[in-house]
Amino acid sequence: MTPMIPPMLDFATGRLRGAELLEKSTTLADLHGLFADPAADAEVDSQTVLYRVAMLPGSGVEGDLNMGVTHLEAGRIGSEFFMTRGHMHARAEQAEYYFGLCGTGLLLLQDMAGVCRLEQVFPGSVHHIPGHVAHRLINTGETRLSALAVWPAIAGHDYKLMAERGFGLRILAGEDGAPRAVDSSMK
Ligand code: PA5
Ligand code: NI
Repeated sequence: MTPMIPPMLDFATGRLRGAELLEKSTTLADLHGLFADPAADAEVDSQTVLYRVAMLPGSGVEGDLNMGVTHLEAGRIGSEFFMTRGHMHARAEQAEYYFGLCGTGLLLLQDMAGVCRLEQVFPGSVHHIPGHVAHRLINTGETRLSALAVWPAIAGHDYKLMAERGFGLRILAGEDGAPRAVDSSMK
């Protein structure tokens, strides 16, 4: 019997290959209204791709797992670093793991009570995202940030909840360019 060659992940770059991938790009236009500074938003081409997700196709059935790699570009809208939309799982109790592959950034986690925490993302970092915790990636580096995610196929994405509530923290560059967390209610 000849063993099959499974799909491959290049851990140094996050590139997935060897299978027909599902790919989705998210542009600045898709994230309209998410960044704090609308004037800075308007100055950037709205078709700029902020991130891409490449996923191995899963069966979607209960008990199965999905895996995908998010490639989040480096950049800022005004002083705010590029970030993913962020979400709670539609089945909110379902957990997820993220693994940093390349680049550097932050994982913003927010529980149902609105309490936020941040974890540093770097090559080799491991992040357990418990159920009932919304999550967003932020690229605070100067190169693309790629992170692997593994989550239950039934988890789903609820984008509406966080669109209504908002994340309590924003990550802005200070005058020296270093990231600092700012309460979202502050201007
Ligand atoms: O399942 C996840 O949490 C990730 O694969 C995200 O979906 C990915 O990082 C893109 O972020 P969002 O779904 O918030 O646009
Ligand atoms: Ni998720």
